[in-house]
Amino acid sequence: MVTITEMSVTQAEFRKAMGSFATGVTIITVDFEDEVHGMTANAFTSVSLDPMLVLVCVDRSARTHAHLHAKKRFGVNVLAEHQRAISEYYARPERTHERAEQEAGARFARTAHGTPVLNDALAYFECRLHTVQDAGDHTIFIAEVEDVVLREGQPLLFHRGKYHEIGDPLN
Ligand SMILES: Cc1cc2nc3c(=O)[nH]c(=O)nc-3n(C[C@H](O)[C@H](O)[C@H](O)COP(=O)(O)O)c2cc1C
Repeated sequence: MVTITEMSVTQAEFRKAMGSFATGVTIITVDFEDEVHGMTANAFTSVSLDPMLVLVCVDRSARTHAHLHAKKRFGVNVLAEHQRAISEYYARPERTHERAEQEAGARFARTAHGTPVLNDALAYFECRLHTVQDAGDHTIFIAEVEDVVLREGQPLLFHRGKYHEIGDPLN
């Protein structure tokens, strides 16, 4: 049993504690001047059922931050376990759209709204921006879900800074 005696949490401790919260991994996709811009994100959460709302938290210094503000429409692609290379690729600062297929096997189609959608992802959410909330060094983008595409398969997981595959269900 650990007793917390004072609230002097360092950023490293905060990151480590948050890392114990296992998540899936998504690629946020947005059209940028007719090219696909993607960003790896795990700060993705369901917010409301009626209306159907989700949120994603994006660093204010990320290029994606400006693109979401400008476009007000984006996709959330939930990665399958075989898509780790895509997660790694879209977390790299120096990536380009041209090399995404060659380096990570990422291929995209377009929805009727023109939003890029990643091939073979486990789920796709077509999102229209609803509310923007400043939150420290990140911004919370809350969006209405206009469409969903779902596929069979197993998810890619992220826990304590490492990628994992899902295990057997508990009884
Ligand atoms: C597993 C994982 C999850 C991430 N989740 C987020 C996130 O939720 N929000 C965020 O702003 N950055 C997140 N990042 C970091 C961005 O993917 C990274 O900074 C990216 O290069 C930003 O791209 P951009 O500048 O083109 O927008 C995550 C990185 C990894 C590896």
